[in-house]
Amino acid sequence: MTERFPETQDDRYDDDTAYNESSAYGDSSVDATARIVDAGGDDDERRVEAALRPRRLSGFAGQTRVCDQLGLVLEAAKRRGTPPDHVLLSGPPGLGKTTLALIVAAELEAPIRITSGPAIQHAGDLASILSSLAEGEVLFLDEIHRMARPAAEMLYLAMEDFRVDVIVGKGPGATAIPLELPVFTVVGATTRSGLLPAPLRDRFGFTGHLDFYAVEDLVQILRRSSGLLKIEATESAITEIARRSRGTPRIANRPLRRVRDWAQVHGQGMADLDAAHAALALFDVDDRGLDRLDRAVLEALCRRFAGGPVGLSTLAVAVGEESDTVETVAEPFLVREGFIIRTPRGRAAAPLAWRHLGLTPPAASARIPVPEALPLGTGDGRFGG
Ligand SMILES: Nc1ncnc2c1ncn2[C@@H]1O[C@H](COP(=O)(O)OP(=O)(O)OP(=O)(O)O)[C@@H](O)[C@H]1O
Ligand SMILES: [Mg+2]
Repeated sequence: MTERFPETQDDRYDDDTAYNESSAYGDSSVDATARIVDAGGDDDERRVEAALRPRRLSGFAGQTRVCDQLGLVLEAAKRRGTPPDHVLLSGPPGLGKTTLALIVAAELEAPIRITSGPAIQHAGDLASILSSLAEGEVLFLDEIHRMARPAAEMLYLAMEDFRVDVIVGKGPGATAIPLELPVFTVVGATTRSGLLPAPLRDRFGFTGHLDFYAVEDLVQILRRSSGLLKIEATESAITEIARRSRGTPRIANRPLRRVRDWAQVHGQGMADLDAAHAALALFDVDDRGLDRLDRAVLEALCRRFAGGPVGLSTLAVAVGEESDTVETVAEPFLVREGFIIRTPRGRAAAPLAWRHLGLTPPAASARIPVPEALPLGTGDGRFGG
């Protein structure tokens, strides 16, 4: 295995040094996975989440390939004494994009400025951020796909030339005043890299796509989290939580706390397998780790649309959610696990979906034929292009 950066003192729980993200994010960082066993308030949730973030690449479990590649890019840049290529991180919610962005700055020992696409609605907003960056600073742009187009255009020119043209005046009298910028590194994060304008996507010299975590990686993450949160948990409980966490660290860290709660209220204080089963059942997480939204999608697909194919927006209306939520939050995992098939004519239930719900698929003649599945990342540019 490629060597990672050495474990440092920074990689530990320390509330005082936890990144304060709430002010930087404002209301735009709606946590799309908050539906799952979310018993805490938003601020509380964010505080725990910040405290659980590994601070260095060495503490970041899983995603070995992306971490090794990123580690190489950062180390080489450090040795050269120049800022690294711009970094784009894509993948479903809760897999560690923000965590990695903060790690990039930490590894470079560079300051970081945090903002997000929805906060940049005008090119002027971006110009003022860019012109106030320090030399070598990391600019973290969360939800970069939601940036307004004129700002995106300004950004990709700035990423290449470290220069922006500030337009002064209007109409025929308008003049462009070139403004030199310090050299900086953009770290962009997105759940929808397919929505990024191609010229912007091309300006990122390094792109890392985060995929769902293996159970062993989640076990490692949960062990670390239980240590930091001082939760006594048995290995079997940790494995059970990991197995039922949709391959997502953010989700894994939540039931861990609920299992602890259950053990404290109903058990002997030790988060054991019984506590894990009971707490996960109480919070509607089923044996495959699917939660209420996942099952609602499958139920709608099988019961209301006879297994599909059905268009995304129709499906979303049927479960009472935004299309974007169904597409970015529920669907990637359901597709990856083989519950849903994406076809050119919409979403269709795979045999596993019927089995999981304990339903019998309609006779073949009654079903609309399911065209060949589209591989991930094709067609409409979703799933990270
Ligand atoms: N590889 C990892 N090792 C340990 N903890 C992790 C890892 N990846 C994510 N986490 C934990 O999961 C939580 C969510 O991670 P993060 O906020 O970075 O996800 P995200 O991809 O930015 O999600 P979103 O798309 O919703 O912004 C954090 O508390 C973080 O500590
Ligand atoms: Mg994030």
